Parts: sequence; structure tokens; C-alpha cells
Amino acid sequence: MNYYNSISRSYNELHREEQLNKIRLIKDNLEIKKQDFLLDVGCGTGIFAKEFKCIKIGIDPSVNLLNQGKNAFYIRAYAENLPFKDNSFDSVISVTAIHNFKNIRKGLEEIKRVSKKDVALSILKKSSKINEIKNLIKELFNIRKTIEEDKDIIFFAKR
Ligand SMILES: C[S@@+](CC[C@H](N)C(=O)[O-])C[C@H]1O[C@@H](n2cnc3c(N)ncnc32)[C@H](O)[C@@H]1O
Repeated sequence: MNYYNSISRSYNELHREEQLNKIRLIKDNLEIKKQDFLLDVGCGTGIFAKEFKCIKIGIDPSVNLLNQGKNAFYIRAYAENLPFKDNSFDSVISVTAIHNFKNIRKGLEEIKRVSKKDVALSILKKSSKINEIKNLIKELFNIRKTIEEDKDIIFFAKR
């Protein structure tokens, strides 16, 4: 976590374009209505927020990244303990964050718990935990589509 706090000032400069590519792929493959609730787990600086026209909430443990967030509501929290009731969100997304979770199973179970309908999970191909993450996603979600892009694989699933 200290790592993301320490690079927070240059995060957007370093990663904005590549993250936007993934976020736009997610947006194009989800049906989100204006009145829908969308959660981004591990939202960082909130790059996702401008791309979606609905009610948006982002959570992340890094205060320094969250402080840069715009165009959404931001809450400091960990994926492993999401401060929301069951089935709170029409869609839940997580973009290149899952390999950072301390307890990946718990984080994915929490994503499932708070989601009502659609889930999009973008996972880093070069992560040493890729197989563990893939297996857990397959175990916990009903995958309907997979897209492989430059750096990530994106799983689209129903809860
Ligand atoms: C590569 S960044 C991606 C940020 C953002 N999703 C984006 O697309 O720009 C990984 C993010 O995971 C967050 N993270 C680390 N541990 C986490 C945890 N346990 N729960 C939720 N997010 C976490 C980091 O703070 C960081 O913002």
C-alpha cells in the first residue's frame, strides 16, 4: 500500500492511458443505465469515473490516490471488507487491482456479495498470482465473456 501512496503524484501520468483502454473495454461490454449503482474496487485515482454515466462509487485503501478522485463518491476501504450491504450495486468492476489484495478469495467473495448483477474483473497477465486469481474467479462467478488486451485479461461475469 505504501507503494501506491508513494507514487500517487505520478500515477496518472504513468498509467492513465493504459488503464483507460481497459476501462473503455469494460464500459463497452456492460449495460449500465443512468440510475444504476456502479462500484469500482481498487479504484486508485478514479480514472474510471469520467467514463460512466451512472451513480459511481470508488473504494481504495490508498488515501493519496483517492484524494485525486473526481466525478464519483470515494471511500477508503479494502476489498476484503467492503462497507456495503449485500446486493448493493448493479455492476461491480475492478481494474488491475486484484493481485494487490492481501486475501484474494475474501476480496472476490466481497465483490460477489455486494453485486446484484454484472461483474467485470480485469487482471494483470504478468502477475505471479494470475493462476490463483483465474481459478478463484472461475469458482466464484459465472463467466460469460473474456477479453484479452495488451496487459490484462478481463472477465465479464454474472454474480
Ligand atoms: C494498478 S492500481 C489500479 C488502480 C485503478 N483501478 C486504475 O485502473 O487506475 C492497483 C490499485 O489496487 C489498490 N489496492 C491495493 N490493495 C487493495 C485492497 N486490499 N483492496 C482494494 N484495493 C487495493 C491500490 O491502492 C491501487 O489503487
